[in-house]
Amino acid sequence: MKATNILLLFSLATIFTSCASITRDYFKETLHNPLEKIIYYASLAGNSHNTQPWIVEIENETTVHILADFSRKLQIVDPDGRGLFISLGAFIENFEIAAGSFGYKANVEITAQHKNDNIAATIKLSKSLETGYDLNIIEDRRTLRTPFRNDEIINEHLEKLIDSNKENVFYFSSASNEGKYIAENTLAAYTQQAKDDQAKQELSNWIRFSNTDVKKYRDGLTTAGMGIKGIGGFIVRNFYKPEDSLKDSFVNTGIEKTKEQTENCSGWIVIFQNEETPQKWIETGRIYQKINLKCRELNLGLHPMNQLIEEENFEKFANEYLSLPGQIQFIARIGYVDSYPVANSVRRPVENILIYN
Ligand SMILES: Cc1cc2nc3c(=O)[nH]c(=O)nc-3n(C[C@H](O)[C@H](O)[C@H](O)COP(=O)(O)O)c2cc1C
Repeated sequence: MKATNILLLFSLATIFTSCASITRDYFKETLHNPLEKIIYYASLAGNSHNTQPWIVEIENETTVHILADFSRKLQIVDPDGRGLFISLGAFIENFEIAAGSFGYKANVEITAQHKNDNIAATIKLSKSLETGYDLNIIEDRRTLRTPFRNDEIINEHLEKLIDSNKENVFYFSSASNEGKYIAENTLAAYTQQAKDDQAKQELSNWIRFSNTDVKKYRDGLTTAGMGIKGIGGFIVRNFYKPEDSLKDSFVNTGIEKTKEQTENCSGWIVIFQNEETPQKWIETGRIYQKINLKCRELNLGLHPMNQLIEEENFEKFANEYLSLPGQIQFIARIGYVDSYPVANSVRRPVENILIYN
């Protein structure tokens, strides 16, 4: 083969590899025992900025402790650790569901009392009947940032989403005054946060544009996860640096995209609690994950948009305006989608989140 042909082939191969974004089905086959498999499924939980703020301490084959990794806390947008504990709650929910599918009952004891407590929960497994839960649902669930359809969610689906958590969940249709309030103020709060230098810097620390960074860290926000596709994705992956997310052009594109997102959904899921404690935040995370999994089954997109409660000046007014029987802990837009894209947000290998005592 001529040298020019070899060069051409090499260039095509390089372009091809950098065109494709990294997927996450990379190490499942290397997991040996049921506990590691359960932890793998748990780690597919939704979590803020994909920081994956969890460590699993293995005491023995049947007892594990779920620890908060505070080094992964978002100090600027989540100073109290609410989002961090919600993420741990989502992890615990997936853990319990996956354990059931593998034929184990997971007895979960929430141990965190204070926001600085790093042992969030202790889980003890005992043999039980397999629940038959389809684990593909956990693998296929994702955060969806595309515009959704605006048509109303049918009652039967709404009941499936919120009936078992009625005490803590409220749904506001986009057509309601409350729905309109959430949409407008989420955009305003997002805009405020997107222009805040410290929040921008914090976000850029978790941005993984290049395939090299995605492979290296296996966390954070990737082009695939953010829905930057096609030629745009190719350019961003290959020519952008995380610092480019600080630029006005990136910020303004984010604001335009957020406007489109807030205007295109059926409505808003709001989770509230009567106390601000790690226990209640973990419970919130479990509810969020449960609803997101159910949305996947029903072909409903779910997109957490928490800026309204992350920006203090907006949070107070939102609580007053919506006057729910508790403080707002979590907000997500939902709506039907014609096709549900493959889940593609990466995760760290299980071995990287385990410690043994
Ligand atoms: C507490 C919390 C807050 C979140 N806030 C946002 C948000 O404001 N905007 C957004 O696009 N995604 C948000 N997410 C979704 C995460 O970014 C997402 O779960 C993570 O990147 C992993 O992706 P996946 O859900 O597709 O697995 C949030 C998730 C959690 C648990």
